[in-house]
Amino acid sequence: MPVGCVVGLQWGDEGKGKIVDLLASDADVIVRFQGGANAGHTVKVGGETFVLHLIPSGILHPGKQCVIANGVVLDPDVFLEEVDGLVARGIDVEGRLVIAERAHLALPHHRALDRGREHTATTKIGTTGRGIGPAYADKVNRVGIRVGEIRDIDRFAGRVRENTARANDVLTKLIGAEPLDVEETVEGVVAAARRLLPWIGDTVTLVQEAIESDRRVFLEGAQGIHLDVDFGTYPFVTSSSASVLGAGPGAGVPGRALDDVLGVAKAYSTRVGEGPFPTELLDATGERLREAGHEFGSTTGRPRRCGWFDAVATRWAIRLMGVDAVVLTKLDTLRGFERLRVATGYRVDGKPLTAFPFDRDGFESVEPVYEELDGFEDDVSTVRRRADLPKAARDYCDFLEGQLGVPLRMISVGKERNEVITS
Ligand code: GDP
Ligand code: IMO
Ligand code: MG
Repeated sequence: MPVGCVVGLQWGDEGKGKIVDLLASDADVIVRFQGGANAGHTVKVGGETFVLHLIPSGILHPGKQCVIANGVVLDPDVFLEEVDGLVARGIDVEGRLVIAERAHLALPHHRALDRGREHTATTKIGTTGRGIGPAYADKVNRVGIRVGEIRDIDRFAGRVRENTARANDVLTKLIGAEPLDVEETVEGVVAAARRLLPWIGDTVTLVQEAIESDRRVFLEGAQGIHLDVDFGTYPFVTSSSASVLGAGPGAGVPGRALDDVLGVAKAYSTRVGEGPFPTELLDATGERLREAGHEFGSTTGRPRRCGWFDAVATRWAIRLMGVDAVVLTKLDTLRGFERLRVATGYRVDGKPLTAFPFDRDGFESVEPVYEELDGFEDDVSTVRRRADLPKAARDYCDFLEGQLGVPLRMISVGKERNEVITS
């Protein structure tokens, strides 16, 4: 059975977790294929809120197989904390969660390097401090440590020792930061690694066999296309392929197996960390969006930057990734705004811009061209059919659909699993 995929169309935090949880009821296997503990996917079910950093959002459905695939960089401490948290809340994870033996580890020295660099760098990215960049750098530099290496624990300990000591050189000599205590670090990593052993497996075969035996596989993206290392607002990006294009190398899924690419977009825009954001609102309206949408990071608690919906950047993302349909989230948050704005074009020096900007300078000279629409007063969180939305809310959705050129398959109107318009 072909494979479905959910990816972010903006700068992350679009509500992917909620949507994957919702769709997981129709899936057999749910796979995270990139990123690491930088992600924070929030799922609310029956009044209970879960924030998942590494474990796929399908885990809250009993019996579903969840996979952390090879494209993820796995922080053992965060993973174990997450497992313990779920178990403590009565979620049975036993036997239905597998970590790829090929996945790379994000370890304490990666976190120290990440934080050290952010502290001293002239161009700050505003990372989550979870060691993501250094872990992927080690992977590409062919010195990373893979999850499967834990099976030979003595050799593994030696490799952690060697990599921690090498990182200490960089920390002390180049960054001017405090070194890690090598033996204490090795001891902590080895203890956590021993606990990972039962979860390790060959996820490539698992996913391939699922596809061959007609089980529905669902891929869960983290971050969003504008944070993608190739297609995002480089260098203000994360270090992985945060798009459907990363699903092949990240999970071992051939591109032709994908039959449904769903892009998730918030009804307005947000971004955490530094970097270009053409429709950002640095005024009271931005503040109001932040308050109304509770726009504070699920991983770091940082306030998210807020702005109007950017149809230019979202259209670009849809085309690049071959998105079949969009899931619009947080429509309810826009309640009470008298007027709503959508960027439908970019202008530079008064002239329409046709090419999508490539760097910060390009974005800085951009002036969004806005279309203004009526706002709506009513609470839409109880609406379950698009036709029942207040006219202005319906017009807003119709307008976005026209701008994006693909259908809005679902419209999310609240945090809870059932707060969604599907028809
Ligand atoms: P993700 O990283 O893409 O999974 O998104 P996050 O979980 O980081 O951020 C989305 C936030 O919006 C979470 O707090 C969700 O509970 C919440 N959320 C998702 N969909 C909706 C919605 O339709 N309405 C409202 N009000 N909140 C939503
Ligand atoms: P989810 O999956 C929003 C941002 C960071 C920073 C940049 C690089 O919840 O949508 P990193 O720690 O990855 O090196 O940081 O990317 N970032 C996210 N922003 N949502 C995320 O994930 C993010 N993951 C990373 O804020 O700007
Ligand atoms: Mg998030």
